[in-house]
Amino acid sequence: MLTHRLATPDDLEALRDVMAQAIAELQKGFLTAEQIAASNAVMGLDTQLVADGTYFVIEDDEDDRIAGCGGWSYRATLYGGDHSSDLRDPAPLDPAVDAARIRAMYTHPDFARRGVGRLIMTLCENAARAAGFRRAEMMATLSGEPLYRACGYTPIEHVAAPGPDGVAVPLIRMGKPLVERA
Ligand SMILES: CC(C)(COP(=O)(O)OP(=O)(O)OC[C@H]1O[C@@H](n2cnc3c(N)ncnc32)[C@H](O)[C@@H]1OP(=O)(O)O)[C@@H](O)C(=O)NCCC(=O)NCCS
Repeated sequence: MLTHRLATPDDLEALRDVMAQAIAELQKGFLTAEQIAASNAVMGLDTQLVADGTYFVIEDDEDDRIAGCGGWSYRATLYGGDHSSDLRDPAPLDPAVDAARIRAMYTHPDFARRGVGRLIMTLCENAARAAGFRRAEMMATLSGEPLYRACGYTPIEHVAAPGPDGVAVPLIRMGKPLVERA
């Protein structure tokens, strides 16, 4: 059975491993090998989310392994890891007018298509709603797009993030209302 809890600093090493495997394996079929290599520049661990208490770990209680991870944020940074310094903006968002960010979703390849991503999305949306946010957005990878569409998100804009060696990474900004309009 899948269980969930908030990530702690003790999880960081294991989370990095899950992310590396998800990035390398689960983007196949969506990106070329060069694009997957380049995507490391704009993906990966954001320790701010762990420090903020907005990052979830999903575990499989049968074999005591991390099945996936993902989180949300009340800060302006839309995507990227600790190393993506040009993408970072820790300014707090205004829940009345801004969209909460859905961030850093990764499923271990052994657990793909078993509902880990969908479970994290529900946890994130509930937490963002409880914090007063009326909308959520993310910068989706092409690998993430089917999950987000399945969760009701629609595209806002297509972008090409510049990666190393001139290889651009295709991304899609997507969003969804968290509350019904009155
Ligand atoms: C995106 C990602 C987190 C999805 O994780 P997941 O745990 O496999 O997703 P789920 O099992 O919850 O999928 C829920 C639904 O999303 C859709 N979906 C998810 N992955 C899909 C895929 N590869 N192809 C088509 N539809 C997919 C399906 O509708 C699925 O429901 P179904 O399995 O009943 O058909 C995972 O593929 C991943 O880690 N990718 C690499 C890292 C990445 O790009 N993360 C997103 C950053 S924005």
